[in-house]
Amino acid sequence: MSQQATTVVIFGASGDLTRRKLVPALYNLHLKNRTPAGLRVVGVSRSAMSHDEFRDRMRSGVEEFSGKTYNAETWAGFAPSLFYVPADAGKRDGMETLRGALAELEEGAAHRLYYLSVAPFLYAPIVEHLGAMGMVAESEGWRRVVIEKPFGTDSKTAHALNEQIHHVFDEHQVYRIDHYLGKETAQNILFFRFANAIFEPVWNRTHIDHVQISVTETVDVGHRAGYYDTSGVLRDMFQNHLLQLLSLVAMEPPPNLDADLLRNEKVKLFNSVRPIALHDTVRAQYQGYCDAEGVADGSQTATYAALKLYIDNWRWQGVPFYLRSGKALKEKVSEIVIQFRRPPMMMFDVAPANRSVPNRLSLCIQPDEGIHLSFEAKVPGFSEGRSVEMDFHYSEDFGGQPLPDAYERLLLDALNGDPSLFTRADEVEAAWHIIDPVLDGWARGDALPLVTYTPGTWGPVEADNLLDTDGHRWHIACIHNHD
Ligand code: BG6
Repeated sequence: MSQQATTVVIFGASGDLTRRKLVPALYNLHLKNRTPAGLRVVGVSRSAMSHDEFRDRMRSGVEEFSGKTYNAETWAGFAPSLFYVPADAGKRDGMETLRGALAELEEGAAHRLYYLSVAPFLYAPIVEHLGAMGMVAESEGWRRVVIEKPFGTDSKTAHALNEQIHHVFDEHQVYRIDHYLGKETAQNILFFRFANAIFEPVWNRTHIDHVQISVTETVDVGHRAGYYDTSGVLRDMFQNHLLQLLSLVAMEPPPNLDADLLRNEKVKLFNSVRPIALHDTVRAQYQGYCDAEGVADGSQTATYAALKLYIDNWRWQGVPFYLRSGKALKEKVSEIVIQFRRPPMMMFDVAPANRSVPNRLSLCIQPDEGIHLSFEAKVPGFSEGRSVEMDFHYSEDFGGQPLPDAYERLLLDALNGDPSLFTRADEVEAAWHIIDPVLDGWARGDALPLVTYTPGTWGPVEADNLLDTDGHRWHIACIHNHD
């Protein structure tokens, strides 16, 4: 059965994600000879378009977004595997059209990966029609579905969506995507922790003072304001990307990398997060947000959040985790900082005067992907010390090759049937359970005022205060102009 052809059906093919990410990723996999034999990509959306028009559109996407890997010859080999079917898959007759078109294109049995790159309100109807049209049965090849974020808007809606999906697909067929898990550097967190013996013994409350996770962006909400205004930073970034990074840093080692054993550990971790106190959150909006087209007048949507949370287990008891993310900030950076405890006493003269400086380990997810460890060293010729860094840069150690885009890895895994880097039904709900109380608290407008920040800065002063009261400050090591 594994020799038969495979079809990737992309719902929402006229959308941005298909052109910027999905087809460039499939093109790069083709270039590297990593696509399954006989791969077809069938784009589906309501717009009228011929196969050739679709191919042209995708070519310009690959030229622009594949990471400079476009060449005419490879494209000429790849383009004939792209097809387009105009159909409204959210409606029964649209799905019927697609079923007929697939039967013609496939010329026999084929495996199928359905990719839902559509507005979230279409997830349930598309899945339902796939089921009703008999397009999910695995008698003629495997059937899998990839579902984009946002997966629900809180734990209740996520649970309801899981139930709707499970009426049609078995959980082993469902791949909920979080592209942060496909980033090389995010995957490397587990390698770093568990393929080395020297870090894990100190990876706990005895040695770690606190952990910071920053995912900052320079872009504002731009043309996505319509979506963003109903979503906000907690739903857009925290429930998924930041909590996934948290799970990789804080989870216990699974017995092996079996997808379920790995995800069991993440669920266990999420279930150990103590309900977040409202006074440990900062809710902010950049100045000028309300002027963007698509934003409701007087919108209270947060474009920035900072949270302090605790994990109630033996490893992390009492260790604060600070998480922040926002739009329209000074730099685009994703970084995790592990700050270790200070030495119990200091006999040297170090800066700041007579106070020991804690070691800091920075896991730089992007840009300048790498790992940095800061430690104290003696200044030559003087008796005092200062902080220096041990550095690892992907660009230096791995030959300067650009890192593969997250979607490449994730599409390949979905095609190969490995769901380790996708979120399981219970995992996505457990993550929502962490965010729900904050969303509820914030919805009670007066419970926590929305503060503003100036675009192009590192965010509101309240986020600095959140750490300041604990005697800490935010750190960024993977760019050098943080302060
Ligand atoms: C997406 C969010 O999931 O992640 C966007 O919807 C955000 O708002 C994006 O800009 C950030 O991803 P990356 O890979 O650019 O850090």
